[in-house]
Amino acid sequence: MHIEQDISLKPYNTFGIDVHAKHFVSVSDIEALKAVLKLEAYPNKLILGGGSNMLLTKDFDGLVIHINLRGIDIISKDHQSAIVKAKAGENWHEFVLWCLENGFGGVENLSLIPGNVGTAPIQNIGAYGVELKDTFVSCEAMSVETQTLKTFTKEACNFGYRNSIFKQEEKGKYIITSVIFKLSSQKHQLSTNYGAITSELEKMGVGSPTIQDISKAVIAIRESKLPNPNEIGNSGSFFKNPVISKALFNELLQNFEDIPSYPASDTQVKVPAGWLIEKAGFKGKRFGDYGVHKNQALVLVNYGNAKGSDILKLSKLIQKTVKRLFNISMEAEVNIL
Ligand code: EPU
Repeated sequence: MHIEQDISLKPYNTFGIDVHAKHFVSVSDIEALKAVLKLEAYPNKLILGGGSNMLLTKDFDGLVIHINLRGIDIISKDHQSAIVKAKAGENWHEFVLWCLENGFGGVENLSLIPGNVGTAPIQNIGAYGVELKDTFVSCEAMSVETQTLKTFTKEACNFGYRNSIFKQEEKGKYIITSVIFKLSSQKHQLSTNYGAITSELEKMGVGSPTIQDISKAVIAIRESKLPNPNEIGNSGSFFKNPVISKALFNELLQNFEDIPSYPASDTQVKVPAGWLIEKAGFKGKRFGDYGVHKNQALVLVNYGNAKGSDILKLSKLIQKTVKRLFNISMEAEVNIL
């Protein structure tokens, strides 16, 4: 085990924030992870996966554990489905590409989402009508306290919109080490209902799409709207789309007749945070090295050397303005550390 000192976390978070970790270790197998968690000399530990859903606002005065468990295996396969196990440190998009190469369907709509396999279940990643939970069977996770491995079934994970047990009662208690998926091996059930996918496929001239076509369409949509974290630091959607009462929504309709919404429950609707932020005048606004993306107001960006604390300040200003204009509280989707 090689523990390094005073390491910049810039390469380890997609926002590209240059904070430092006092101590840093990368683990590539279960035994190493167990051993590191047992180290009493470092009581303060931070687990880092793909670093795609966090805003680092200050140096970390402890041990950062980078999860680098790798490998994808086909557990079983028949003429309908394939059971696949991927280790937590695999890059999510590379996993999607691997599935496509093997002809396995179910995750193509989730192409190009930043992050790793092991962090995907924590917030039940989702895009274009599909969520991680749709193909998820179970995951294996190590207890931070006892270093024992436990299997969490889909039911046990209690998935919701950008939510799971790992963001609620088990928050910070487990490290996901691998995930098992059930994918289709033939007769793929395609999810093309999402408006933008249909029009993108038309643009591509595709009549009866394959899973590869859908992935290409999703990649084209995402590339046109969302900044590539390798070029402009970002963490995808910074806020969740807020769920509000129908009563408040009807009130807002009086003043904003073009406000979009999606049904959430009998009494509630979900409103796109991107629309609220755009209406509040923040879309494309740049403040030196940080700002709001020009094509998607839901995404806050780091153009170079922004500080996490600056981006946090901007996010609070956006929340305050949206609250004042629409009486809606927006919750951050990213974890702030
Ligand atoms: N909109 C605006 N202005 C903007 C952005 C969006 O008015 O700047 C409006 C759009 O016109 C549309 C609505 O908001 O009417 C929804 O926009 P879009 O379809 O782009 O989706 P979203 O609600 O902004 C969600 C996810 C994305 C996911 C897309 C596609 C959340 C918080 N975000 O965004 O997830 O890719 O749907 O399914 O649920 C992520 O989590 O990092 C992420 C990118």
